[in-house]
Amino acid sequence: MVNDTSSRHRGAFTLLKRAVGAAILAGVVGGGGFLAYAWYPSIAPIAKPAASSFSDEAVRRGALVAAAGYCAECHTRQDRGGGPALAGDYAMETPFGAIYSPNITPDPETGIGHWSEAAFKRAMNRGVSRDGSHLYPAFPFDHFTKVSDQDVADLYAYLMTRAPVHMEHRANTVPFPFSIRLLQAGWKLMFFTPGRFRPDPNHDTQWNRGAYLAEGDAHCGSCHTPRNLLGAEKASHAYDGAVIDGWIAPPLNDHNPTPVVWTEDELFAYLRHGVAPLHGSAAGPMAPVPHQFLSQLPESDVRAIAHYYADLDHAAARAGQDQAAIAVAMAQSKIDLTGPQTDPDARLYQGACAACHYNAAPAPVSGRPELALNNALWLDEPNNLFMVMLHGIGAAEGQDGIAMPSFYAGLSDADMARIAAYLRRTRTTRPPWTDLEKKAAAMRATLKTPPINASH
Ligand code: HEC
Ligand code: HEC
Ligand code: HEC
Repeated sequence: MVNDTSSRHRGAFTLLKRAVGAAILAGVVGGGGFLAYAWYPSIAPIAKPAASSFSDEAVRRGALVAAAGYCAECHTRQDRGGGPALAGDYAMETPFGAIYSPNITPDPETGIGHWSEAAFKRAMNRGVSRDGSHLYPAFPFDHFTKVSDQDVADLYAYLMTRAPVHMEHRANTVPFPFSIRLLQAGWKLMFFTPGRFRPDPNHDTQWNRGAYLAEGDAHCGSCHTPRNLLGAEKASHAYDGAVIDGWIAPPLNDHNPTPVVWTEDELFAYLRHGVAPLHGSAAGPMAPVPHQFLSQLPESDVRAIAHYYADLDHAAARAGQDQAAIAVAMAQSKIDLTGPQTDPDARLYQGACAACHYNAAPAPVSGRPELALNNALWLDEPNNLFMVMLHGIGAAEGQDGIAMPSFYAGLSDADMARIAAYLRRTRTTRPPWTDLEKKAAAMRATLKTPPINASH
């Protein structure tokens, strides 16, 4: 199930293509009814509201809503040296063209300066732009629809009080007929249920707070839940894991394969600081989630998200096996450092990795991830292990200030394949990975340019 080849970028196009199919189908079936469903009026532009019309309290709360929803991640240009925050122009690349995120600073001409609160609320609740056109689900409105009216109002206050930036929206290069926005209504008809989050009375306040953030604003499922053939998240496989930009976003339920359970404390450390003592670091597309965004929230909110996922993965019922798994991992780590190695794969691993990745009883040392417990070795596919070797881990990812060098130049695909096979064989109880050299080459091809810190 994690073999899904979608990614945030290519996924956007797949979504478009599938949405067109869904819309045509819905159009044929529904005829005039479909048009009535699909059509939204334009909401009249307003004069840009004065910053003084919003209370400081609302703006402060709205900043947290923006942080929990990673608005700046997609609405800030990342290539060409980066761009001004929230001014858009982030290209979501597809094989046939790009979708550019719009400017959501309050610039009246090129941003949302003349959007009323009602227009903004409709975009969040329904995925419809001010002019009545449907937005593509690359904008995660399927999650944002769950955000409360109060939080949307605060978010509006926050955005409308940012410095306006003049940034033209570059035209998408998506071809006809995918460019017909009306057709997105077909996708919505089939897969989108608008509506605010409703607390589950069977759970306490903390659980519900975690669920509210995770399912809505923080849209964890948009990366961690696999999508169906029409590009919508599979409700029946929620949090089963999915591929995003080449990386695997691991399962967040009890299908997560590491031998040590993701307890509330491990989840909290990972989501708050980007590193969990037993499991390892947040790298790749996950790195900004803790470092740039969740670290801004009150600790109680991050704790609530951790509490929610610890319940989903049944941590309490499974944690009993942890000590045994840690003991096995520590024993293995020690063997690698002692005695001459006759196994050439072990020697390769010793030379390249073991100097930093050894541990000894009773438990792994912080900043020295124990590979035997890390999901890069346990997942169905070796994507994350190869990605970590190729990219390395920057000082701003994973544990603050600690880095791992990139082996992009230092290891060939064949070397990486041997290390992967060796670690899988000696550190896990899972079946061997297949076609490793081919997969290493495929992961290498996802890097457009070698990482800056690549070793030689
Ligand atoms: C995963 C990437 C992503 C994230 C996260 C994201 N957006 Fe967007 N957003 C987009 C894209 C892409 C579009 C344009 C979609 C289109 O062209 O149909 C968009 C469109 C919008 C629009 C419509 C603007 C217009 O001119 O029609 C608004 C408003 C918006 N986003 C606000 C937000 C806010 C507020 C947040 C944070 C709570 C946020 N977005 C988070 C990708 C994202
Ligand atoms: C942009 C995509 C994206 C979003 C959004 C995202 N994740 Fe992740 N997540 C990933 C990827 C990719 C990894 C693998 C990172 C690695 O191996 O270092 C990951 C790893 C994780 C892990 C470690 C799992 C393991 O077994 O190693 C946890 C826990 C996690 N994410 C929780 C969350 C939660 C909770 C949220 C929402 C608050 C979230 N993620 C949002 C992409 C995402
Ligand atoms: C110079 C020391 C060093 C070397 C050599 C090194 N690593 Fe690492 N590695 C680290 C550090 C430090 C981290 C954690 C980084 C952080 O959290 O910021 C890490 C993290 C990892 C992770 C965890 C990633 C995650 O998402 O949790 C994996 C997997 C990994 N390394 C594999 C390897 C492999 C395979 C090799 C050999 C090819 C290797 N490392 C060589 C220092 C090193």
